[in-house]
Amino acid sequence: MRRRLGSLDVSVVGIGAWQLGGRAWNVDVREVLSAVERAVELGVDFVDTAEIYGAGRSELMLGELVRRRDVTVATKVGGHNYGRVEKAARASLARLGRIDLYQLHWPPPPYAPLCRPIRDMERLVDAGLVREIGLSNFAGRLLEEALACAKRHEPVSVQVHYNPLYRRAELEVFPIAGRAGLTVVSWSPLAKGAALGRWGPDRARRIDGSVRKRATTEWGRRVVEAVMRIAEARSVSPAAVVLAWHKAKGALPIPGVKSPAQAEALAEALRLDLDEGEVKAIDGAAGPQALEGGLVPRARLLPATLQRLLLSLYPI
Ligand SMILES: NC(=O)c1ccc[n+]([C@@H]2O[C@H](COP(=O)([O-])OP(=O)(O)OC[C@H]3O[C@@H](n4cnc5c(N)ncnc54)[C@H](OP(=O)(O)O)[C@@H]3O)[C@@H](O)[C@H]2O)c1
Repeated sequence: MRRRLGSLDVSVVGIGAWQLGGRAWNVDVREVLSAVERAVELGVDFVDTAEIYGAGRSELMLGELVRRRDVTVATKVGGHNYGRVEKAARASLARLGRIDLYQLHWPPPPYAPLCRPIRDMERLVDAGLVREIGLSNFAGRLLEEALACAKRHEPVSVQVHYNPLYRRAELEVFPIAGRAGLTVVSWSPLAKGAALGRWGPDRARRIDGSVRKRATTEWGRRVVEAVMRIAEARSVSPAAVVLAWHKAKGALPIPGVKSPAQAEALAEALRLDLDEGEVKAIDGAAGPQALEGGLVPRARLLPATLQRLLLSLYPI
């Protein structure tokens, strides 16, 4: 089984490279790079990064691998850079060597024209700088409005927060994506480890407190137990079960792995298909609260200059 992102053909499980930035996660970036290498060796051929991860460091590190390996690479331009898309794309291109999928990381501030970055991204396709374009952290009406902006090149994907503890996208994203032919790319597909009952001291996890809160509720614990039960019955890792749940939902998960050992779970997930009963067991364990929450970052409401200042003071 493979996934289509417009003209791109990628493995059903990808890999996220935020950890390679090394700022918000407690990691040894060389170890993370070995983890990405291992995942690629095992058949994962879609890698996702962003200009803001480690202020370009994730792209730079990944660029080493992109130049050597046959992978499809996706990156993102921050919503605060809505007026500087070409400049940002050229900087990312210099670090990565190639951009297959270029995504708008989050919507521009409400005072800025929504269509401007999307039209600029279309021009990048025309200029041959990127192959496909996508959206990230768009949902509901905002997603529909953004899709209506595209005139020459349709976005092929929408990347959103989605995992067994955070399923709001099933209401606000999947129906629109289905109609528009977009692939849903799941970020934090393992709920930053919380869907496996794991939690660590990383700043990335503190920034996103909602996952821990959900994992420690009674219904959150039931979801983790359901994942563990299936993992035991199938003799696979709990991470593989969660990633196979994404496959069953038609989404493309991009887990962030910290070590080659964790990368093995991605290969297990490529081979694992959950049956309907197993998907229902995970979904049924959750309460209706799994469908609550927002999908568009509130930081988007700040002026772009303030967003830039915050990112320079608290780099991620
Ligand atoms: N578009 C956006 O706004 C956005 C936002 C966030 C993330 N993303 C993308 O999504 C990617 C993934 O999200 P994420 O890193 O936030 O969360 P995640 O993939 O849900 O969780 C990552 C964490 O889970 C643990 N883990 C990974 N593999 C494991 C395994 N096999 N067994 C047990 N634990 C495992 C690791 O932490 P420990 O080992 O410390 O437990 C790892 O740091 C990012 O790298 C980034 O590319 C995009």
